[in-house]
Amino acid sequence: VARLQQQLDVTRKLSLTIVKPLQAEDFVVQPIEDVSPPKWHLGHTTWFFEQFLLQPFLPNYKPFHADFSFLFNSYYESVGKRVLRGTRGNMTRPSTKEVLNYRAYVDEHLQLLFESDVAQDEWMPLIELGIHHEQQHQELLYADIKYILGHNPLFPAYALTSIEDGLSTGPHGTLDISEGLYTIGYQGDGFHFDNEKGVHQVFLSKARVNQGLISNGEYLEFLQQGGYRQFEHWLSEGWTWVQQGNTKPLYWHEVEGEWMEYGLSGLQALNMEAPVKHISFFEADAFAAWRGKRLLSEFEREVLNEKLSNGQLWEWTQNAYLPYPKFDKAPGAIGEYNGKFMINQMVLRGGSIATPTGHYRASYRNFWHTHHQFQFTGIRLAEYC
Ligand SMILES: [Fe+2]
Repeated sequence: VARLQQQLDVTRKLSLTIVKPLQAEDFVVQPIEDVSPPKWHLGHTTWFFEQFLLQPFLPNYKPFHADFSFLFNSYYESVGKRVLRGTRGNMTRPSTKEVLNYRAYVDEHLQLLFESDVAQDEWMPLIELGIHHEQQHQELLYADIKYILGHNPLFPAYALTSIEDGLSTGPHGTLDISEGLYTIGYQGDGFHFDNEKGVHQVFLSKARVNQGLISNGEYLEFLQQGGYRQFEHWLSEGWTWVQQGNTKPLYWHEVEGEWMEYGLSGLQALNMEAPVKHISFFEADAFAAWRGKRLLSEFEREVLNEKLSNGQLWEWTQNAYLPYPKFDKAPGAIGEYNGKFMINQMVLRGGSIATPTGHYRASYRNFWHTHHQFQFTGIRLAEYC
């Protein structure tokens, strides 16, 4: 219990640390539907604890504000009506100060829950889920803050030093996977999401996997050799996406003939040694095709996890995000956490620099739609041999 209480405390504080460099206006805007205002993340992660912990378990709990469930519910149909996702940026009210007060109020009441005599085994697993949920939003906070500042015409820096410093492709060279059956899925007794459950065997063919991620220099070569003008590398939907004007990684800018990249420390010359990042699944797949290689399967990535560097960039895999054998949703709203998103998304593995410490596992399955570039994504290649 003490360990969990401490983990909760550390997690709640980290969200505030991440937003510390922001100015008042940065907290509110929503430049595209996918990017939520930082203030909304602070409110939503707090609402999660209020909705799923305090309301059901803390005796006589009074919600902070009657409207906040409507404002800060993300996608839980079972919980009721909510603000349309694309209009989160319209919430100039409640003020950020009010949302911070909401956080403090909920934190105080969570302490009361810890001190109460309500049966722990009922609510402890939900505290743990709330912690991991907030950690997921901390990664989103970084991605969304970067998008907000990186689409400001002044390209303001988030901070002079950031999580992006020291990003590296990792070693050159390759690792082999031998043909055979491998066990996939979460096998320990610690925290994990429902989508990692369902331990099962997967047959893998003999393969060779790059130890390093693809660098900016390598990706620039693809671009300069006409990669975005040659349909043959692209999946049909990817080619349509290119025709819509998507012809470079999200934060690359060509300024007077020089390639620059916006990072959390501002606009800088493109570092050719650093791994290419903020690319869509379409781009990762087209780059692999151009090289005559392929992306890894999520199972290959899991099998090799201990041998590959983790936490640099999420690696797009060639797998659609699907349920494992015997996947089972939890009853009620918590059952909406993962299962209903198992349609039209691809699995990413490996964690990223924005993933909070301790959040990632070998069996961890991240997932995004094929066109999304705003997460901290990169490319690792493989081939059959
Ligand atoms: Fe959420």
